[in-house]
Amino acid sequence: MSIRLAIHGGKPTVVYNGPHLIWPEITPKLEQAVIGQLHKAISIYDRSGIYEEFEEKFSHYHHVRYALGTSSGTAALYSIFVGAGLKEGDEIICPSYTFFATISPIFFTGAVPVLCEVQEDGNIDPNSIEKLLTPKTKAIIVTHMWGIPCEMDRITKIAKKHHLFLFEDCSHAHGATYKGKLVGTFGDAAAWSLQGQKNVTAGEGGIMLTRNKDIYYRAMLLGHFNKRCMKEINKNNKLYKFAVTGMGLKLRMHPLGAAIANEQFDYLDEWLKTKRKIAQRFDKAFSTMPGVRPAIKPAKSNPAWYAYVLRYIPEELGGLSIEGFFSALQVEGCIMLDRPNSTCPLNHHYLFKCPEKLFPSYKGKIKYKVGDFPVAEKFHKHSLKLPVWHDERYTELAEQYIEAFRKVTSYYVSTSKRL
Ligand SMILES: Cc1ncc(COP(=O)(O)O)c(C=O)c1O
Repeated sequence: MSIRLAIHGGKPTVVYNGPHLIWPEITPKLEQAVIGQLHKAISIYDRSGIYEEFEEKFSHYHHVRYALGTSSGTAALYSIFVGAGLKEGDEIICPSYTFFATISPIFFTGAVPVLCEVQEDGNIDPNSIEKLLTPKTKAIIVTHMWGIPCEMDRITKIAKKHHLFLFEDCSHAHGATYKGKLVGTFGDAAAWSLQGQKNVTAGEGGIMLTRNKDIYYRAMLLGHFNKRCMKEINKNNKLYKFAVTGMGLKLRMHPLGAAIANEQFDYLDEWLKTKRKIAQRFDKAFSTMPGVRPAIKPAKSNPAWYAYVLRYIPEELGGLSIEGFFSALQVEGCIMLDRPNSTCPLNHHYLFKCPEKLFPSYKGKIKYKVGDFPVAEKFHKHSLKLPVWHDERYTELAEQYIEAFRKVTSYYVSTSKRL
């Protein structure tokens, strides 16, 4: 039987009736949480009320003592860098493939981000980290890309051996584990974005965790001046005298955002269960389909599946371009299929090619160019991103997406054989 693709006038495969994803879901409980908070407080000066409730919950879940809510994930990352005292003359080893905000706040510290090649799974490559170490290296930051944990055994070992700070960007990886341990608990500090699309969201917001009191105090001074610092920084600590003014920024989370995240967080484990079942379906289907490869994850890891990123192999479909493959799938009805764009190898962004145009002190220190990170660049060029739904009611939709892939790949295998 011949296959007629939707792009050639055939019937689309995906016939799901309804939106392909509603996120976040505005449940009656979420509405109550927000309205309740609206009447309680919309500005909180110290660590009380909804801040305390959410930060305590987050810190207990991870068994890490200090939590600090922030206005964004970017602000949480900046708080970590300032908290750890990074400064001009320091180097920090960073993944070359991550969302740029993992790294861009470093430019405000004067330290130099040193980009590192990634592995086939898109995560930072431990072998390449070791090659980049210099006497100036002060820290390593990793991102658990798309929710897949990095090789934390090896990375933790390198950080310990060389007495480096280890930071984790867990913005895609709420609740992910590596060898039974939650991401965000391996290093000196970790940050999570709670922006609208994330697995736990505040609409806009972020949170950081650390066991290190100095990092916590300095992070607090950066963005939470006056009452919170006055109440929490020990009066005998040398930083206490800055408690009123802090360092000059204000990076607090909005209490309504905290109420949303606090309510959402209770469902994280339940959502992860469903996401993992759907990811298993994808794994099974894509491991036997020509033209694509399933997501790669380290042994004994349990990703958070912020997204499912599969790799396209054009040679197996007669050299069909990724653009052609993507369009065929979109017309089959896979409207949530995406090709990550701004999340790309950092050497493709102007900020990493010529940061001195914005930050003059970086003149001559950073000059990346396209082609510097071939593994990251290949990963990016060939990646296709699928949503991993959090609710069983989307299972049928996930199956239809798989069916669309099956139809399109079968068609191009058969046409390439005929050529
Ligand atoms: C990996 C990663 N890090 C950091 C951020 C920044 O978070 P935010 O948008 O909350 O500032 C994002 C946001 O998309 C992200 O994906």
